[in-house]
Amino acid sequence: MSNGKVILEGKSINKIFGHGASSVHAVNNVDFKFHEGEIISIVGESGSGKTTLAKMILGLIPATSGDLYFNDTKRDIKSFKNRKNYWENVQAVFQDPFSSFNEFYKVETLLTNCLDLRNEKQSKQERMDKMREACFFVNLDFDEIRNKHPFELSGGQMQRVMIARIFLIHPKVLIADEPTSMIDACSRANILEMLMKLRDENQMTIVFITHDLGLAYYVSDTVYIMERGEIVEKGDAESVIATPSHRYTKQLINDVPKLHEPWDLT
Ligand SMILES: Nc1ncnc2c1ncn2[C@@H]1O[C@H](COP(=O)(O)OP(=O)(O)O)[C@@H](O)[C@H]1O
Ligand SMILES: [Mg+2]
Repeated sequence: MSNGKVILEGKSINKIFGHGASSVHAVNNVDFKFHEGEIISIVGESGSGKTTLAKMILGLIPATSGDLYFNDTKRDIKSFKNRKNYWENVQAVFQDPFSSFNEFYKVETLLTNCLDLRNEKQSKQERMDKMREACFFVNLDFDEIRNKHPFELSGGQMQRVMIARIFLIHPKVLIADEPTSMIDACSRANILEMLMKLRDENQMTIVFITHDLGLAYYVSDTVYIMERGEIVEKGDAESVIATPSHRYTKQLINDVPKLHEPWDLT
């Protein structure tokens, strides 16, 4: 559970792609406050601006306007050193795990790079132990996969490598853009369980970006509903789902009719 300390804050974040008549206001005056250990879902249909917002939070694309604060300090990632420091704290797992890795790197290199990001003095043996531990955490055998390339692994294994990276980097904030869409329901539950465990152990903040209101309801403390670039409703997951106030939220709930009813498992 969250301890109430704000870790990441966005104030009037805007992103406009293009100019003039053909411009797209992809993210429109978005405000948010994410707390330590909080699980947040940003829910909206395809095209509502979720990924654009995620990319700005990660500092992969610049905002057209607005300010971002990390740990009460205005974010400044102009220099490489500051960027590296920010990415030690704010990390992502993306929809398609294969797109987020350098395909020429072996798993061992992908994991070594995470240790390098943290700048800790470690012996070769300590590093090996850490990587083994990270793989164990996600049910992978390090010695079996260390010399493999991403294309030699299954989608599910790649997802696990992605979470092993998060285990090694242990960022303060993790943005998970549709993290479970590629894998079957069973591994999906596993992946969520692993992420929750990381949250519990490190007070990590997790931001799920999804079109799946069901997922949002079951995993998150706080839900942000996004429609055409705007946050139209936000609040604790329970009350947003039980007593939605915005038309768009009601519409999303109607698309998942059984959501607010208890499951009948008898
Ligand atoms: N690089 C880009 N150039 C122009 N328009 C973009 C770009 N990226 C996203 N958009 C537009 O911004 C809107 C929001 O897209 P996106 O953030 O990907 O939504 P979501 O992740 O919710 O599906 C869409 O209309 C999309 O076409
Ligand atoms: Mg998207």
